[in-house]
Amino acid sequence: MKLQDPDLFRNAALIGGSWRARPEMTVTDPATGETLGSLPDCTAEETDEAIAAAARAMTGWAARTHADRADLLMRWYHLILDNTEDLARILTAEQGKPLAEARGEVAYGASFVRWFAEEARRINGRIIPSPVQGKKIFAMKEPVGVCAIITPWNFPIAMITRKVAPGLAAGCTMAVKPSDFTPCSALALAVLAERAGIPAGVLNILTGRPEAIGGALTRSPVVRKLSFTGSTRVGALLAEQCAPTLKRLSLELGGNAPFVVFDDADLDAAVEGAMQSKFRNGGQTCVCANRIMVQSGIHDAFVAALAARVDGLRVGPGTEAEADIGPMINPAAIEKIAAHVADALDRGATRVTRTRDLSGQYADPVVLTGAATTMRLASEETFGPVAPIFRFDTEEEALELANGTPYGLAAYFYTRDMARAFRFGEALEFGMVGLNTGLLSHEVSPFGGVKASGLGREGAQEGIEEYLETKAFHFGGL
Ligand code: SIN
Repeated sequence: MKLQDPDLFRNAALIGGSWRARPEMTVTDPATGETLGSLPDCTAEETDEAIAAAARAMTGWAARTHADRADLLMRWYHLILDNTEDLARILTAEQGKPLAEARGEVAYGASFVRWFAEEARRINGRIIPSPVQGKKIFAMKEPVGVCAIITPWNFPIAMITRKVAPGLAAGCTMAVKPSDFTPCSALALAVLAERAGIPAGVLNILTGRPEAIGGALTRSPVVRKLSFTGSTRVGALLAEQCAPTLKRLSLELGGNAPFVVFDDADLDAAVEGAMQSKFRNGGQTCVCANRIMVQSGIHDAFVAALAARVDGLRVGPGTEAEADIGPMINPAAIEKIAAHVADALDRGATRVTRTRDLSGQYADPVVLTGAATTMRLASEETFGPVAPIFRFDTEEEALELANGTPYGLAAYFYTRDMARAFRFGEALEFGMVGLNTGLLSHEVSPFGGVKASGLGREGAQEGIEEYLETKAFHFGGL
């Protein structure tokens, strides 16, 4: 990996402003299997140290003016953008996504830092008219306190900034545990945060395996909030572990997004949206179209156009300029994808795209027709480049299919009928709905799900509220 600034590639955890290097846990390049680095596997005791450092830093950080915190975040934002190329190279090396997508993620991640730098100055309380004479009541906003942040491997930069930036803007301090597959992007962000002037102890990064670190973070009474992005199974487990200390929770969990194409849709736009929604990050996103539902009248034209686009996708190392899809994150991902495709074919699906000769951690992008609710891919997130097409006839049928999942993160649909647009959009039981668009991810828009897809919202105005408590301050005797 050639970096303009090699100092951004750290093999150390950051606790209370000191970098700790211990070669205990290797990070590998999913494209080659080569070792990129070796980092500390932080212990429960080190996690407690990071929490204590965050608690000490909290007093000074929360006492700063909002404008001061906003300025520091804005400095961090500019440093992230200035170092886009190096950050993208580190991201691609440890996560696998093509460099062009990695650069896009750096910009996406930076957009949260800018947004919450701006929001930091607008954390207002309110004055409530008192029902009794001689009294005034203030509703004041205060930082929640020390926060635990646990982030996934699929967006190693954006998932950190989407949580850390609002927390820092609100006046909280953080103990962050990035995925053990992709810790180096988080560490590079922390180097830049230091350079921006964010004080020691405000942002701590714990590298290592989840059990010891997660156990200590959830057990600690000092930690007042946990924000996690990952699977519903792990989210539920963390919520259980947080219950004895009653922490605030933000959980961005699994999805099983329907992508519905009605007969009256703009075909080209629907195919473009499906490509964006399904194949971004090789299908490894929580908001990926997992079930593509197409009405009978447009079905064959849509399948032909989508298959042609998928046949044109190039699979290869993310560092190769022409790659559209990089390697999947690990062998388990490849096994799950293969199992979903095999199960669908066994149960009557038809493959309508070409077969590539791939090995290692590469998955073959595929379109399958004849998908049915009995198949594994109908009820489980595939998290890979598999596009199953379910055929439907009526709007009622489409709604039942779309809502027929315990998950409720993202849903997409394509129609040019405005009455249906409102009717169908309102009836979808999801936290985010895209009408005639395959992209829902912007810093200005609330991101999060309902049902088994989690609790709380990230980004937008809502994102900062997750890191604020309201104190009712009653002034008597006036
Ligand atoms: C996710 O997959 O968890 C995040 C995707 C996004 O922010 O668009």
